[in-house]
Amino acid sequence: MRVLGIETSCDETAVALVETNPWSTDILAQVISSQIELHRPYGGVVPEMATREHLRNLPLLVPQVMKEINLPLDAIDAVAATEGPGLASSLLIGHSYARALALALSKPMVGVNHLEGHLYSPFIANRRAVEFPFVGLIASGGHTLLVHALGWDRYVKLGSTVDDAAGEAFDKVAKLLGFPYPGGPEIEKMAAKGNPEAFGLPRSFPERDNLNFSFSGLKTAVRFFYEKSPQMQADPVWAYDLCASFQKAVVDVLVRKSMQAVAQARVERLAVSGGVLCNNALRLELEVACYAAGVDLIVADPTFCTDNAGMIAGTAAEKLEAGAAPRVGDDINPNLDLFAPDPEQGEAARGMNAAVKLKSRQKQGAAKDPELTSPGQVEVW
Ligand code: KG4
Ligand code: ZN
Repeated sequence: MRVLGIETSCDETAVALVETNPWSTDILAQVISSQIELHRPYGGVVPEMATREHLRNLPLLVPQVMKEINLPLDAIDAVAATEGPGLASSLLIGHSYARALALALSKPMVGVNHLEGHLYSPFIANRRAVEFPFVGLIASGGHTLLVHALGWDRYVKLGSTVDDAAGEAFDKVAKLLGFPYPGGPEIEKMAAKGNPEAFGLPRSFPERDNLNFSFSGLKTAVRFFYEKSPQMQADPVWAYDLCASFQKAVVDVLVRKSMQAVAQARVERLAVSGGVLCNNALRLELEVACYAAGVDLIVADPTFCTDNAGMIAGTAAEKLEAGAAPRVGDDINPNLDLFAPDPEQGEAARGMNAAVKLKSRQKQGAAKDPELTSPGQVEVW
């Protein structure tokens, strides 16, 4: 089965064509047009500019993908597009384009949840068939989420951020220090020259059974050190150290909570995705922690960590192949929820209930296990 996927949930226009085979789903061609340079002067994404850019890009990128593999458009079996969550105006462009294309080709149109795409992207990027159950970590500019994935449409939220997303914290700290958008890569460059132990910065929610995240205290602490230290603004070494300490604090929390989530869910696999996973310090620490715990870490190369259409096309293709009810795909939903059971999808709703019961059983089991309940060694602010 060949599926053409379109992703326009924010500031990247992405198109991909995937093909399923008995062992995995392969990407036949994919293109991504990033708008980072366009939005950089504004310090963040300007929705109207993003919308216009998607509108300009899509009619160029779809033929480009088909030309790359030398196939006509009617060689596609289905068209998929991101349904949500994301910027409404951006979603509308990709979704409407996909609907029109599907209609013109008389092929099915499938709406895909962007977060489900992120959960799946480490698998497709590594040419692996998706293997449930696993714990998924999504850390991007809009989300920081730990998910127990039991099957298609059967997701249990283990933890999420109560304030800023991890990528948002990178972006805000970078802005404070005067670096351009997006902040993550800039902070990483500065951090490489600094001492991560130089500043004692806070880590959120140290309790081992709390899998939520909070980055606003950390951000405030960075602001405090920056504004109270005139040396900082004059001497770049201080900024290197502050970036290194900030990055270490974010990495520590993401790694610790991910490993806690894997232990609590009693799974063997951790699949990680989202723009923050481009960060090499985070990738390295995750590899070390997973190796020590005997956990199978599935991490994509950076192209698949940020938004891409391979994950959207691949999710649709795998769900269609698995016989999971695809989303109807007749409208966007900027607040689409990964966890709310769709009343029209009885199977999925039943799966969700089973997942919730399983989680509560695991909680009871976890309470008896001292390894899972003892407090971690954390620095408290
Ligand atoms: O997944 P993504 O491309 O878009 C969203 O769906 O949000 O993630 C973008 C986020 C930005 O906040 C950016 O600063 C962050 O990912 N990011 C990084 C790195 N590269 C991108 N954060 C830390 N280190 C990086 N190397
Ligand atoms: Zn994303």
